[in-house]
Amino acid sequence: MISQNTIAQVFETARVEEVIGDFVQLKKSGSNYKGLSPFSEERTPSFMVSPVKQIWKDFSSGKGGNAVTFLMEHEHFTYPEAIKYLAKKYNIEIEETQRTDEEKAQADARESLYLVSEYANTYFQRILHTTDKGRAIGLSYFKERGFTEETIKKFQLGYSLDEWQAFTDDALGKAYKLEFLEKTGLTIVKEQKHFDRFKGRVMFPIHSMSGRVLGFGGRILTSDKKAAKYLNSPESDIYHKSKVLYGLYFAKQNIAKEDNCYLVEGYTDVIQFYQTGVKNVVSSSGTALTPEQIRLINRLTNNITVLFDSDAAGIRASLRGVDLILEQGMNVKVCTFPDGEDPDSFARENTLEELTVYLQENTKDFIQFKASLLVREAQNDPIKKAETIREIVNSIAKIPDPIKREIYIQECAQIMDISENVLFSTLAQINKKEYQDANKKYKKDQRAFEVVRNEEVARPKIDIQFELEQKIIQILMLYGNREEEFEDLILKEDEVSGDLILEPVKQAAKVFEKIYLDLQEDEMQFTNEGFKTLYYNIIDRLHQDEQFSTKDFINQLDQNLASTVTSILMEDEKYNLHDWHRNNIIPKGKEDTIAQLVSQTILSLRCHLIDKKVAEYKEETLKEDANSKTIIEDVKDYLGLKMLLSRKLGKVVGGQAVK
Ligand code: CTP
Ligand code: MN
Repeated sequence: MISQNTIAQVFETARVEEVIGDFVQLKKSGSNYKGLSPFSEERTPSFMVSPVKQIWKDFSSGKGGNAVTFLMEHEHFTYPEAIKYLAKKYNIEIEETQRTDEEKAQADARESLYLVSEYANTYFQRILHTTDKGRAIGLSYFKERGFTEETIKKFQLGYSLDEWQAFTDDALGKAYKLEFLEKTGLTIVKEQKHFDRFKGRVMFPIHSMSGRVLGFGGRILTSDKKAAKYLNSPESDIYHKSKVLYGLYFAKQNIAKEDNCYLVEGYTDVIQFYQTGVKNVVSSSGTALTPEQIRLINRLTNNITVLFDSDAAGIRASLRGVDLILEQGMNVKVCTFPDGEDPDSFARENTLEELTVYLQENTKDFIQFKASLLVREAQNDPIKKAETIREIVNSIAKIPDPIKREIYIQECAQIMDISENVLFSTLAQINKKEYQDANKKYKKDQRAFEVVRNEEVARPKIDIQFELEQKIIQILMLYGNREEEFEDLILKEDEVSGDLILEPVKQAAKVFEKIYLDLQEDEMQFTNEGFKTLYYNIIDRLHQDEQFSTKDFINQLDQNLASTVTSILMEDEKYNLHDWHRNNIIPKGKEDTIAQLVSQTILSLRCHLIDKKVAEYKEETLKEDANSKTIIEDVKDYLGLKMLLSRKLGKVVGGQAVK
């Protein structure tokens, strides 16, 4: 661990304008600096850095923070990585805190594995570029595949000589220990003898997200049917296949920038795409995608496009893997390639423009894609069609967002030419079964504590924040331009008793102004990107146009936003479907006045955010080095505020709401 001392020193020394200046061109503007947002494409600068406050704010994406958070956002560093980066930049010596001998030994062993891998990586590259055999065999192979010199260097491709122990001997000669050569799998040890695992293969190093070499993939050059085409490093203390994506180190910034990640099958697909100019691409290296890998992508974007080779069997097998991505709440699209083509060959034969156009035109939403595929397969076969329905609804059931689920049901009904009701009831059946299973397990777990609260399990999980943000958009669209009389409760000291009391004050305002000002006052940000875009869009429109009409508005939106808007406007129906307001979480929408609805929604959102904060603090206190006393003070402040808000909301704070 980096010592607190070092961290404090880094924070003292680092200047946010200097740190950001290495990545963004900043111009002085008053007491601040301004520049083009590094997080979005824009022509007019909306990125601000304040040297006085030592913070930055990106008004186009809503992101902001200090020097460290900038590095975490922009470079996708972890916290320690950001601190180390700054320490290096400012020549601050990094002091590590005391570790036990065991911890030290473990860290040293891991470090040794990294060092051995790093050495192997430079060795294989040296062989490829500077030896006769390397150039004649390895380099010419890569060139034949269409990789340029620049690409080969960028991806640090290499070659391992076709000799039994050329690499191992070289490494041992450089005093790398056999123990670590064996643990990384670079060397296979058998009865006192040792062999190079990757003998005679071209080498693809596999990097961590921050660029350290974790392992290798090696491709054979002969067409020997018995030997595996690709050989990969075995699992080790530093290489965990399920947690690594090939190409992520090179792609991460492009993924964040494009807000999409292409997922391909192999090493060469990644490289060829990158070379052609589509740089937001990664591969799970031939194995099924794991939840950990999806989470890696999820840190950068919510959108994933799976690229399939043309063969149908492959596609069929991969469909199941995609459900896992849906389960993580990501938006999944798919794109297939023409007969006999894979992403590698297709990218090689086409220019960037052709490739981009192809991807644009052939990318389909996953659920729609799956529905059409299955329908085609089940044509004229009623039994198969029934199976198909269940299969597609199974996928839809994996999507956590109820609104998206509903939209998909509607679309699939059309594609498959069956009534929505059939799909909805199938979904209900699947859900019921899942709830029952969950319920059973829950009951079993709880029996030990003799508390059975099955209601919690039986009801669908609600994302309160999502619902409230959505509600705000809905109100803006329906009533944004109305002038209403708002009653605000102001905290005052009672002149007689000296107690604090809430005094009502009436004020007339437009609904959208009230919402805008209230949210701004609390510095509340929308967490849902779609809602955030819509929110600013609508507020803008309402500012400019007295005659704002939802219909014209929808027509001007892109397809995604338009469908979000449409479903929001349909929301009221859904509130009746689920029993959501029974527990008072979501305002009913049937208030006497619109003003009340507005105030209630905003207050609910505030209460919710406070709950979230308190929960975060609770987590905080569980940490070992937590300063419980200040945390408890903070929590108390929040709970006080919550109490006040709840009084405003006309609710009594029960044990339930404040946990
Ligand atoms: N793979 C593997 N072991 C194998 C075959 C494949 O680990 N025996 C992994 C590799 O990561 C490979 C990916 O699966 O990149 C895709 O396999 P495949 O489509 O067979 O390879 P390509 O990438 O098309 O390889 P090439 O074009 O070099 O033949
Ligand atoms: Mn291939």
